[in-house]
Order: sequence, then structure tokens, then C-alpha cells
Amino acid sequence: MAEVVHTPRVFSGIQPSGGLTLGNYLGAMKRFVTTQDAGDMETIYCMVDQHAITVWQDPDKLRHATRELCAGFIAAGIDPEKSILFNQSQVPEHAQLGWIFNCVARMGWMQRMTQWKDKAGKNTQNASLGLFAYPALMAADILIYHATHVPVGEDQKQHVELTRDIAIKFNNDYGVDFFPVTEPVIEGAATRVMSLRDGSKKMSKSDPSDMSRINLTDSADDIAKKIRKAKTDPEPLPDTVEGLADRPEARNLVNIYAGLADLTPEQVIADHAGQQFGTFKPSLADLAVAKLEPISAEMSRLMQDPAEIDRILARGAERARTIATPILKRTYQIVGMVGA
Ligand code: TYM
Repeated sequence: MAEVVHTPRVFSGIQPSGGLTLGNYLGAMKRFVTTQDAGDMETIYCMVDQHAITVWQDPDKLRHATRELCAGFIAAGIDPEKSILFNQSQVPEHAQLGWIFNCVARMGWMQRMTQWKDKAGKNTQNASLGLFAYPALMAADILIYHATHVPVGEDQKQHVELTRDIAIKFNNDYGVDFFPVTEPVIEGAATRVMSLRDGSKKMSKSDPSDMSRINLTDSADDIAKKIRKAKTDPEPLPDTVEGLADRPEARNLVNIYAGLADLTPEQVIADHAGQQFGTFKPSLADLAVAKLEPISAEMSRLMQDPAEIDRILARGAERARTIATPILKRTYQIVGMVGA
């Protein structure tokens, strides 16, 4: 018998570990705004600063990146009245539930995570314990709110699936139906935005080449230059999406166009079939500048008043805790902690 009725609720997070990329924007943030504006589910969005420190972060840069990320959320359309917007470390229940999940999750589960393998590289002995346990904290981020839906880009799918495994094992181990089995929501044309220099690699803030990505803070000139120099092949755009199958760089630019313009890749191809990149790239650059420049300008404006950003985050954390506190208390009772 279900112990609780799981009201549909959305949670997602972004690491404040450097600037926001076009991948974060199209794969996550833009979709967070759509979900918020649909208004049919409570939406909770978090700057996961405790995840960020699983690899070294300079403290001043971390503080700056967290505030800038908050400004990014608001500039992209997140309304801190409609959504709960906060940074993870101000809600200690995430780390508290994370500990319980460290004791539920298995070493073997963590070892299979492709992000662990990529980030730890060959020198796993020297990676932080936090980096290894990262997905258990991510499960806690989601489940401390009994969130049912988690919008993410493709690269986070495996972590959300692990969250389901943790919820199921907890429920089985303790004979309860307490944590919901969460759905990853991976939708739209741009859930895997690729590097502009290499169509087989994800666009990432940690790529050493700045030309590989578009940052939300890039100037219009930089955006245009990066798109103009993006790697492509010599063929014109095909007549059908199937024609993009073996052309990762071309497909990436079409998907980016579709994501920015709220179109499907099919619609983009229908409008641009037969075009050379010499024509398509300038259209894409104009579109990217038109969509991103207002966000970038609003971010700079918001960053002029960091005290106001801090107030928004503190208020968001207070609201988040009203949901998280009773769920942690009940978890402690289930587990057998005296005093809960
Ligand atoms: P992070 O900070 O790496 O990325 C934040 C979001 O952006 C998406 N994303 C992309 N989408 C499409 N194309 C890309 N190139 C691209 N790069 C990034 C990510 O999929 C993600 O949705 N572990 C998470 C943060 C996290 C989290 C959570 C997410 C912590 N706790 C709970 C959801 C729920 C991460 O490192 O994302």
C-alpha cells in the first residue's frame, strides 16, 4: 500500500562549476522555463554547489559562479516566485539524505557510471570520494522533495536511472513505499548539444577549447565567430533528417537551430534543404545572437546587485526546506534513528 501519494513535482539541478553553455541552456534551462510556465507541476531548481566541489573549486570563483548561475536562471525566465530557486548547501537535508543513500547504493552501481569513469580518468585512486558518491547525492537532491519528474540532458540519464534504483532498494529494504520512482524527462531537439569542434563530443564547460562551446556570457561577435568557425563537412544540407545520420557536425548545427527556434529538426531541414553552410551558418548565428543576447544582458544587470541574488537564494532555500524537512524526518524514522 502506498504510504504517500506522490504529487507530480519537478526537480532539476545545474552545477555552478564555470559558466553556462548553450548545452546547459538548450538541454536544461530553457526546458525548465517551459515546465514552469506550463504551471501544472510544482518546479524546484537548484544550484548544486556541493556537487561542484567534488572537483577542486576556487572558493571565490564558486561563490561568483553560483550567483551568476542564479542570474542565468532568472534571465532565462525562471521566476523565483513561481519556482523554488536555491543553492544546495543552504538546504542541509540534501547531504543528510545523501548519507543514507551512500548506505543504500552499492559500490558496483557507482563504478558503472560513465561520468565517474570519464571524470576520474585513469587515476581513480586520486579522485575524491565525493566524486565517486556523486550520484547518491544527486538521488538525494531529487528524492528529498519526492520529485517525480527530472528534466535533464542525455548525459544525466544514467544518474536518474540510478536514482530509481536507489528509491526501489530503499523501499524494498525497509518494506515501505516511501520514495517515488522518478522519471527522467529528456525531450526536444537539443538534449545532447555537441562540441562545435568535434561532433562526437558533448559541448562542455570543461572542454579546454573555448571555440568548442557557446557560453551564455559570450558577446554577439564571439557567438558569430564560433558558429562561423564550427567544424562542418563540405556537403549542402540534405532534404531529410535521415540524410544527417552520418554527419554529426551538420546534425548538431541543425539541432541547435531547432532548439533555439522551437522547431523540430524536420522543420529546420524543410526550410533550409540544399543550403550550403556558408548560408546556413550566418542564419544560425543571427538566431543564436537574437535569443542569447537578451539573456546575457539581463544576467549582467542582475549581477550588479549580488545582495538581491543572495536574498532570492535564501528565500528559495527556506521554501525548499519546508518540503525537505518532513521528508527527512520520516526517512530517519523509517531507518530507525532515535529522536526523529
Ligand atoms: P551539469 O551541471 O553538468 O549540467 C546541467 C544540465 O545541463 C545539461 N547539459 C546538456 N544538455 C544538452 N547538451 C549538452 N551538451 C549538455 N551539457 C549539459 C545536463 O544534462 C543537465 O541537465 N549531475 C548534474 C547536476 C545535478 C542534477 C541533480 C540534475 C545534481 N543533482 C538532480 C538533475 C537532478 C550535472 O552535473 O549537470
